[in-house]
Amino acid sequence: NWTMSAYRQKMVEKIREQVGTGKVICGLSGGVDSSVAAVLIHEAIGDQLTCIYVDHGLMRLNESEQVVTMFRDQFNIPLVHVDAEKQFIGELEGQVDPETKRKIIGRLFIEVFEEEAKKLGGAEFLAQGTLYPDVIESVSFTGGPSVTIKSHHNVGGLPERMNMQLVEPLRELFKDEVRALGRELGIPESFIGRHPFPGPGLAIRCPGGITPEKLDILRQADAIYLDEIRKSGQYDKIWQAFAVLLPVQTVGVMGDGRTYEFVCALRAVTSVDGMTADFYQFDMNFLGKTATRIINEVRGINRVVYDVTSKPPGTIEWE
Ligand code: XMP
Repeated sequence: NWTMSAYRQKMVEKIREQVGTGKVICGLSGGVDSSVAAVLIHEAIGDQLTCIYVDHGLMRLNESEQVVTMFRDQFNIPLVHVDAEKQFIGELEGQVDPETKRKIIGRLFIEVFEEEAKKLGGAEFLAQGTLYPDVIESVSFTGGPSVTIKSHHNVGGLPERMNMQLVEPLRELFKDEVRALGRELGIPESFIGRHPFPGPGLAIRCPGGITPEKLDILRQADAIYLDEIRKSGQYDKIWQAFAVLLPVQTVGVMGDGRTYEFVCALRAVTSVDGMTADFYQFDMNFLGKTATRIINEVRGINRVVYDVTSKPPGTIEWE
């Protein structure tokens, strides 16, 4: 007798009770959790909620537009789209160490978010899409207990810093329940079923220094790869799939000319929770066809390789 529609109703009432006539700010990441939390809270308290989408310029092709359009036009949720690309790319330029890149992005994210919240006149509440697994163990999703393998990009210290109370309507739910709640709330299936995407975005899929040009090349290759995966009906069998632009150029031949361009690595894994993963066994024809499309359609890439590393010993992301 426990249904998602009953849970939805119960949470709507709880949110109203907690928030009263207060103001709530929610940081959207473009991911499923923060999106479901935002839509649920909006249902409860309407325009007392404002979402802030910090656009770091490290999203995939057309992704920011899709997120912004969905929230503003489909759900009518007040949304501030902060274009912080220049700031992020500016500070990342020349940085090659993965942890340094992650830390810069995490810090800037908090700074930009805080500044926008101030512009809105502040708020008493901060909404977060915290799930039950995050509550029971502060998930160190890569490392063993004592080693930090990657510093996680999140809004951790934000509530204390900003002196806000947390609204966390998903605290009792597991990921599959969040997806079910999202469907119940009318969020499109194409959005609910999306692969996870890391907070630091394409910056950690572009090993070495990033530049706007490299990010553009990566976006195009990634879009072609995902297009082929969707068309071949494999998207839902894969936990995560993405392209990585390597900081390596190789010699190739195109027509009767020599080329000297970047190598693109393709990655796809199956996993239950992201803690361990197996590389996905594509059919070689699929890989060949996808590689040909990428090399023909993306200027700047002349070689494609497939990553056959499982986790452990590899991590899912390259940085
Ligand atoms: P790794 O690369 O550590 O990643 O095997 C495990 C899962 O976590 C995602 N990931 C992140 N997600 N912020 C996130 O929100 C991050 O900083 C971050 N780093 C990695 C990764 O995409 C995979 O699903």
